[in-house]
Amino acid sequence: MRIAACKTSDIPQGESRLIQAGEEAVLIFHLSDGFFATQPRCTHVFAPLKRGKILNDKCVQCPLHRARFDIRTGEVEDWANFPPGIQLLNVVRGEKSLKTWPVEIDGDQLFVVVN
Ligand code: FES
Repeated sequence: MRIAACKTSDIPQGESRLIQAGEEAVLIFHLSDGFFATQPRCTHVFAPLKRGKILNDKCVQCPLHRARFDIRTGEVEDWANFPPGIQLLNVVRGEKSLKTWPVEIDGDQLFVVVN
């Protein structure tokens, strides 16, 4: 199902925006080569990635324990590593990619394709 999310001009390059696409909350990122949609919460212990940093036009770094995810694919680039000792929690919270959705653009309208 293709759901209208926002205007392309609503998300400056290098930033993200949280939208509701049907029943899914989706975080849309604007990178140099387009727009990409991921789940809005970190897979480690669910911190909001909207408050994270976008690094090198590629990754989002979680604001809580600094896990890094490839925004285009959702794959884990670096798992939670802060503060020291977080590895104890990682025993039960192992690496898990972010869910992603396709983004389509029609004129200046941005759509997210969800199931
Ligand atoms: S909640 Fe994101 S790294 Fe822990």
